[in-house]
Parts: sequence; C-alpha cells; structure tokens
Amino acid sequence: MELFNVYPLYDVTLVKGRGSRVYDESGTQYLDLYGGHGVISIGHCHPRYVEAIKKQVEALGFYSNSVRNPVQEALSEKLGKLSGCEEYSLFLCNSGAEANENALKLASFHTDRSKIVAFSNSFHGRTSAAVAVTDNKRINAPLNRQHAVQLLPLNDLHAMEKTLSQKDVAAVIVEGIQGVGGLNEGTTEFFKGLESLCRENGTVLILDEIQSGYGRSGKFFAFQHHGIRPDLITVAKGMGNGFPIGGVLIAPSFQPSFGLLGTTFGGNHLACAAALSVLEVIQNERLVAGVSDLSEFLIDRLKSLPGVQRVKGRGLMLGLEFDFEVAGLRKRMIHEKKIFTGGSSNPRLLRILPPLNVSKEELAQFAESLDELLKEEWV
Ligand SMILES: Cc1ncc(COP(=O)(O)O)c(C=O)c1O
Repeated sequence: MELFNVYPLYDVTLVKGRGSRVYDESGTQYLDLYGGHGVISIGHCHPRYVEAIKKQVEALGFYSNSVRNPVQEALSEKLGKLSGCEEYSLFLCNSGAEANENALKLASFHTDRSKIVAFSNSFHGRTSAAVAVTDNKRINAPLNRQHAVQLLPLNDLHAMEKTLSQKDVAAVIVEGIQGVGGLNEGTTEFFKGLESLCRENGTVLILDEIQSGYGRSGKFFAFQHHGIRPDLITVAKGMGNGFPIGGVLIAPSFQPSFGLLGTTFGGNHLACAAALSVLEVIQNERLVAGVSDLSEFLIDRLKSLPGVQRVKGRGLMLGLEFDFEVAGLRKRMIHEKKIFTGGSSNPRLLRILPPLNVSKEELAQFAESLDELLKEEWV
C-alpha cells in the first residue's frame, strides 16, 4: 500500500535526534529550529523524557478513563502549578485540533449557543469545528462550512463589540500569538477589551495556546503578557515534546458533567508520563525564564540581516519577514546549511520555533548561515 500523499516532502530521511540536532541516515547533522511545527519544547530525546517513557511503558502503557489514573493527576497538578492556572481543571485528549474541538463544544454546551467568532489568519486545526474556525477556505470542506462562524480582524474592538452585543455568540477563539497565520498578535488593549466584552455578553473566551504556550513566548502562556484570564485554554504541541497529547484547561465556572466530553486514548498513562517529564524538565532547567534572553540575543543578530523587513513574534516564536517569498531560502537552509526552519501562510515569512533549551551558539549559527545565503543571493 502506498501512503496517501498529502505533504510535499524535503528529500531528507531523519533517523535520530539529540537536543536541537537531528541526523539523517548517513549521519549528517542538522540544526532543528522548527521542531516539526513547534512540537519540540525540551529538545529531541531528552534523557529524562526517554527514561520516563521507558519506565511507564514497562509498568502500564494504557488504560482507559474508566479508572483512576495517578499519572494524569500528577500531570494536571504540575501543569496548574507551572502555568499559574491552578484553579482550572484539565481535560486531556490527543492533539491540538481535538483540544479546540472539545473547547468549542464545551462553550456551546455552556452557553446553549452555536455561533463562534474567530479571526482573520487564524489556524486552529483540521477537525470539524476546528477547521471551521480556521481562516483557510481551501481546507474547509462543504461539511465544515455548516458551522456558524464569523471571522473578524484582529485588534478591531469595535467590530467585536458590534458582534458580541447580539448576545448569540457561544465563544470567541483566539491564538495567544498566531502561528500558521504569520505571527500576528493582539495588543494588550485588544485582549483586555475582548475579555470584558466576552464577560458582558455571556460569551466564552477560548485562548488557543497550542503553538504559543508551554513557555515559547517567554511566559508559560502568551496571553499572560496581557494580564487576562480566559475561560478555556487549549494546549498540545510542546506539551508532549512529540508524544501526541493535548488538553483543555477549564475555568471553575464550568460544571463537570459525566459523558459530556470523552475519549478513548486521551490522557493515557504513557502520554501523561511523557507530558509530565516535559514539565519536570521545563521546571528543573528553568526553561521559561531563559527564553527572553535567548530571544533578545537572536533578534539582535537577525534584525540587521540583508533583506529582513521586520522580525515578528515573541520569545522563541519568531518570524523574519522578507521582501521576497522564502520557500527557496528555506530549501537552501536545509540542503546547504543543514538547518530546518518553517514557513507560514504568509509566503514572505520564515518562522522558527526552536526547542526552549537551544543554545546561543546554535542561534548564532543560524544567524550566520542565513547572513551568508542572503548576502550571496539578494544583495
Ligand atoms: C494554534 C494552533 N492550534 C491548533 C493546531 C492544531 O494542532 P494539531 O495539528 O495537533 O491538531 C495548530 C497546529 O499547527 C496550531 O498551530
């Protein structure tokens, strides 16, 4: 059987990873500043992570949510503590789209409304409601277009007020920092205004922190730069450092009700052990506190590179906007400089999402390699 071909592939076969480095089958080393779409938070194959997974799979890999699971309990307690969201409760699932799907469903149950507001350039995943609130017509099938969704521009409080005052909106879903859409971010004034409008009009505020969360922005969650308190927070990607896991953090105003949400695999022992070890590494190595320094170091080297129009994003979720399309540059970075970077729906933006424990030497290597290519080709 052949694979159902949905991804354009780089001609690289990776067989090994260590920290911020990955290796192909001939032993060639690559610097991974993208982490396969922002998944690698603590580096590839961190020893503590590998050990935790090994230990758990030898003890008990899986049982369903019909029995008490102490690994789930340890995970939710640590996540609450490290994120500063101890009063929330946690629903566990398997991916980002599934986390958003459940958050949207919960908001609809909670308000008894069905309309959702999302934003231009949003990306929330590919399942039914998650893709319906994603601003990309090409990946919305006719089935997905049946959801009642309104897309508004980011940072337009006037439009938001007009829409929410109809009092028929179940939820507003917004990314802490837009990732796939090109590293756009709401202002503090906007986030605060949005929070007030949601409260006034009985609308649930969902913060999608799937890409911007888990320390990547320099705080545990990106919304924490703006001093707001969302009703629901969705997480995935860096949470499992490659092991599939996602979750919804749920504010105390939501009453749990048996059978409302559910999953077979979500919150299984193995996934929780992996996610717990990620938090232990984040805590022990003080990774969130280190992000700002790494970020400043890198931005300093990037902003004056030839052809760079601006540096977007925060922390270790950064984008370089050029005055040309970057697909060719990304390809040359992989094949000639042995460095993985990412793109976005803005073809002129090169996006990087390195592990939070990337070194300054590795970031300097990236800046120097980019400089060499840019000087050669575009100056
Ligand atoms: C902000 C955001 N939300 C949701 C998703 C979907 O996550 P997953 O691919 O795990 O379903 C993504 C994936 O890129 C994302 O960036």
